[in-house]
Amino acid sequence: MSERNPKLLFDPMKHPEWIPPQTAIWYTNLALETGGYKYPWKSEFEEPRAEMIFANKISSYLSNSSRVLDVGCGHGEFTTAFAHKVKEVIGIDLIEGFISSAKKRNTNDSINFIVVDADQKLPFPDDHFDVVYTKKGPWLYHKGIDEGHRVIKSGGIAMGLYHGGTDGGLRKLFPGLYTPFRDDHVEIIKIECERKLFESSLEKVEIQIIEEVEYLSSPEDVLIKKCFGQNEKLKEIVWRECLNDVEEIFYKNATPKGLKVINYHSLMIGKAI
Ligand SMILES: C[S@@+](CC[C@H](N)C(=O)[O-])C[C@H]1O[C@@H](n2cnc3c(N)ncnc32)[C@H](O)[C@@H]1O
Repeated sequence: MSERNPKLLFDPMKHPEWIPPQTAIWYTNLALETGGYKYPWKSEFEEPRAEMIFANKISSYLSNSSRVLDVGCGHGEFTTAFAHKVKEVIGIDLIEGFISSAKKRNTNDSINFIVVDADQKLPFPDDHFDVVYTKKGPWLYHKGIDEGHRVIKSGGIAMGLYHGGTDGGLRKLFPGLYTPFRDDHVEIIKIECERKLFESSLEKVEIQIIEEVEYLSSPEDVLIKKCFGQNEKLKEIVWRECLNDVEEIFYKNATPKGLKVINYHSLMIGKAI
């Protein structure tokens, strides 16, 4: 990406219609609109994708006697990948619309999807799971919270994959629409993982920062990404305010595959003592 564009674009986050992402109302809207937690923009990825690295890590801890918990499973697409490898997989999520989509797509007896608030008491026996993972959902191993420890076996593995934001030049190209990261953004994500594991009472196994390369296919995809989960009224405003500028910047900087961006992910693994 070459030039820096000094023009400050419209900031949808300052509009009263903006719904803060990753809140219950935002997830409920997504469930009503699409039935799932699926990225709506078009793009291509360089391999390996962060999700694939995470899936391989999870698989490396599984056997046919394993019991697995997916915390914040969304519409369950990722969860189902482990069904044929293990004794039991349970996906839990707060949002009923996601769980009903997950149940519809599931055809495997070893999987169960349940509406559960992971911040409350979990409906599972003590020492039940060999692997407890979350892909961008609630982390059960916060300081002073016992439920995660109660349901995982001693020696069991707790794993998390979190999205640490997108940049790779995107934020400087579209100021206003995107807020710049600090120069030490990656270091901050890493320190946050170290802190989470340190406070978790889990024994640290691994922390990995994954830089995933993605190519956004068109200028509209820059806006679709920003407005993921927002209502139609706000999207119309954003398109009207930004599309011409975004098109100009996009075509000046895109590669033949699209506009290159980097998604930062943190992967952390701990062992229950
Ligand atoms: C970013 S989405 C990820 C969904 C899915 N794991 C994926 O990667 O596609 C986070 C998920 O966590 C769920 N979630 C958030 N808070 C929760 C809670 N307290 N209990 C259960 N699920 C929760 C949301 O409903 C949402 O489905």
